[in-house]
Amino acid sequence: MIDSTGMSSHISPLVTMPPDQLDLGEIFGRLPPRRCGEADRRYMNEVLDDGFGNRESAHMVGRFEAAFAEKFGARFAISHNSGTGTMLSCLLAAGVGPGDEVIVPAATMASTAMVVVQAGAVPVFADSDPRTFNLDPADVARKITEHTRAIIPVSLFGLSADFDPILALARPYDLTIIEDDAQCFLATYHGRLVGTLGRAASFSLQGSKHMTSGGSGGMVITDDEAYARNIRKASILGYSTLDAKPGATMIPRDVRQDYAFERHDRFGYNFRMSAPQAALGLAQLERLDTLVAARRAIAAQYERVIREEKCEWLIPPHVPEGCTHAYWCYTCTLDTERLGVDWRTFRKTFVAHGGDGLYGLWVPVHLEPVFRTLSFFGSPERSPNFDPRYKGQVKSYGPGNCPQVEAFRSRLCLFKTGMQTLAKVEAQAEALRATIHYYA
Ligand SMILES: Cc1ncc(COP(=O)(O)O)c(C=O)c1O
Repeated sequence: MIDSTGMSSHISPLVTMPPDQLDLGEIFGRLPPRRCGEADRRYMNEVLDDGFGNRESAHMVGRFEAAFAEKFGARFAISHNSGTGTMLSCLLAAGVGPGDEVIVPAATMASTAMVVVQAGAVPVFADSDPRTFNLDPADVARKITEHTRAIIPVSLFGLSADFDPILALARPYDLTIIEDDAQCFLATYHGRLVGTLGRAASFSLQGSKHMTSGGSGGMVITDDEAYARNIRKASILGYSTLDAKPGATMIPRDVRQDYAFERHDRFGYNFRMSAPQAALGLAQLERLDTLVAARRAIAAQYERVIREEKCEWLIPPHVPEGCTHAYWCYTCTLDTERLGVDWRTFRKTFVAHGGDGLYGLWVPVHLEPVFRTLSFFGSPERSPNFDPRYKGQVKSYGPGNCPQVEAFRSRLCLFKTGMQTLAKVEAQAEALRATIHYYA
């Protein structure tokens, strides 16, 4: 159900109110131990009782898809077995292939760019804004060419990409916008839910994410029925009878048993979600607001420590006016000059004071060895960049492609927000406080 602002009315105020007003005790009191509650067991038992026939599996997958679509106020949700396969399906269904360019951020997890190569197209890396760590629309504008077919904005760390200027850039060229919302559940962008802004949105349900379908999984949402049907087909071997409707993953018996049945009218991979994954995903979806609120409340704890300790060398994440943050992690910028030590030394000190580690940014994707050497299919000559159908200019990747990302890459501190108990949250906040004291 969508309200007058375009937001699903199923979203609780827990995910839109200021995080420092959230009641930690209440939120953590609602979370089941080890991410598995009564509903998870009940739905899993239903699957075990039903067996694993095609019809029964389709039924549970359909329930999950219908509930996911409803939650986001989308017309269609197409389940996958990863949040990587989701994006490849979206590219294939949009007709992206050899000769095309797709613009992706350099600051992301590599899947966002690998799917472009998997589709036979050329990834073009765009720079990111050092305040939000998301795509810089000005650089996207510079990177659009006559070969560009799609853009994949990533809502990194749980903060919405800056969609309005990106959508405005895409419109005159009819570029497909595929949201990579792997890390961004229930965040908002100027009153709209992230996931409802592009032609389609991809979510990862891998174990580290806000919600998980048993450790891996993915979901695409879209309002475009023909596109949804082709995404489904791209995800299950292009069977002609597949459909956009929830759980429409089956072929009717009399059709599939006929010797003359021509099964495949499109090309596809096999990214089918299993019934146990759907059962666990459905249960997690029912408490998604609480799961997101927990991460928001944890972020507020880190922020409180930085504020109370008047720490000037750890810069909290910036949340632009009009956006709410889903905090897949709490990403600070370390001012190494001001602190006088480098990132690795700071991390070591945090761990020594009880911190459960912290991640740095991934190596910017254009600098990862496989991209730098173009060795996707053995030799560089066989990469999409040198396919005779590709007439664009991007023949290599290396330092200088995305200077802003290259400048902030060694400064980001990704503090964890996936803790499931209040005691663990408090321990991490206190580890940060002790670290700040140590350098005072
Ligand atoms: C930004 C981003 N995109 C895509 C993915 C890929 O998702 P999955 O691991 O479900 O394939 C991830 C997951 O780790 C991610 O963080």
